[in-house]
Amino acid sequence: MSAILILFSTVDGHTLTICERIRRIAEQAGHNVTLASIEDTTGIDLPSFDRIVIGASIRYGKHRPAVFKFIEANLQLLESRPNAFFTVNIVARKPEKNRPETNPYLRNFLRQTPWKPQRLDVFAGRLDYPRYGPLDRLMIRFIMLITKGPTAPDTVIEFTDWQRVDDFARAIAGTEEGNAPDAAPPVSSVDI
Ligand SMILES: Cc1cc2nc3c(=O)[nH]c(=O)nc-3n(C[C@H](O)[C@H](O)[C@H](O)COP(=O)(O)O)c2cc1C
Repeated sequence: MSAILILFSTVDGHTLTICERIRRIAEQAGHNVTLASIEDTTGIDLPSFDRIVIGASIRYGKHRPAVFKFIEANLQLLESRPNAFFTVNIVARKPEKNRPETNPYLRNFLRQTPWKPQRLDVFAGRLDYPRYGPLDRLMIRFIMLITKGPTAPDTVIEFTDWQRVDDFARAIAGTEEGNAPDAAPPVSSVDI
């Protein structure tokens, strides 16, 4: 049994939903899981965790500053544990952009931080026009128009491949054959 910390960075909650699914699978595998916002980790005893996972969504091309701030402040600790990172974005709905090697935001992330996560993944996010404010809705519809995505203002679509989330979760939990987090492939295989 390991103590696993999952930190999330979300605006509309979809990354949290993904993290909750990962938590459920890790708990079913017998681990003790703590889920927390990366914006506020006060009161969390970071060194007490055996594995650390960070998940963060993209908004207007960027992960939020709190993600980089946390990594910078805790790099040594992160690197001393089996660790993983995943990003959530809409571009990843496209098969040719939904892998760590091909997703532009993940590639950018790896350029922006000294951390080399042992395990990486990319999950397609959720589109929920009715939930957005008028300006965001307009902007995202425009981006969808030029990238050939759905533009109807009542569209709500979850592009997330939950099977892939489950595979990632099982790898974190160490229940995937030959794929315990400690045995994760080195990140050098990612072309950055
Ligand atoms: C205002 C806004 C801006 C976004 N910008 C991008 C973007 O630049 N690229 C992208 O691939 N997805 C973008 N998305 C899609 C989000 O990454 C996607 O909805 C994701 O599921 C959000 O996760 P969250 O709910 O955890 O924040 C944007 C969404 C919104 C609402």
